[in-house]
Amino acid sequence: MRFKIILAGLALTLGAAGLAHGADVIAERQALMKANGAAAKTIFEMVQGKAPYDAAAAQAAFEKIAADMKAFPTLFPEGSDQGKTTASPAIWQDKAGFEALAAKLGADATAGAAAAAGGLDAIKASATAVGQSCQSCHEKFRIKKT
Ligand code: HEC
Repeated sequence: MRFKIILAGLALTLGAAGLAHGADVIAERQALMKANGAAAKTIFEMVQGKAPYDAAAAQAAFEKIAADMKAFPTLFPEGSDQGKTTASPAIWQDKAGFEALAAKLGADATAGAAAAAGGLDAIKASATAVGQSCQSCHEKFRIKKT
């Protein structure tokens, strides 16, 4: 009898931990994407002439995006399509395609980081590529909020 109660308690604890983990991983990947958004904004404002060009800041922003894109595809465990997320089920149906787009953005950002010391004109192509990579993954792998 007592054993049964302990078991039930254990199952409850494990169940709660499992749920918490699912929510954590969603929050983690959303925080990462928010940081990506901030880094992209830093770059785009310079390209659009809204902020003065700062090679070190541009390089850091590209590097941040590149590093984040290594971690990002690991934050989609099975079951984390449920909850407060705009991740599309397509991610779990086409993991390879999803990872390829993350890698593409990583490569665009790495190229931008390498070009940053060359001045504003040198990063323009990479900035455009980064913007397109954000968009193409969102179109394919993110549910649009209505
Ligand atoms: C490989 C695919 C992929 C790429 C590339 C990508 N995103 Fe995302 N992004 C997602 C997915 C999936 C979500 C939804 C995450 C969730 O809700 O669980 C998301 C969500 C977001 C969010 C909302 C975060 C929140 O608070 O819910 C922002 C902002 C964002 N992305 C910005 C960007 C920017 C800027 C770039 C380019 C620098 C980018 N993303 C590139 C897949 C991608």
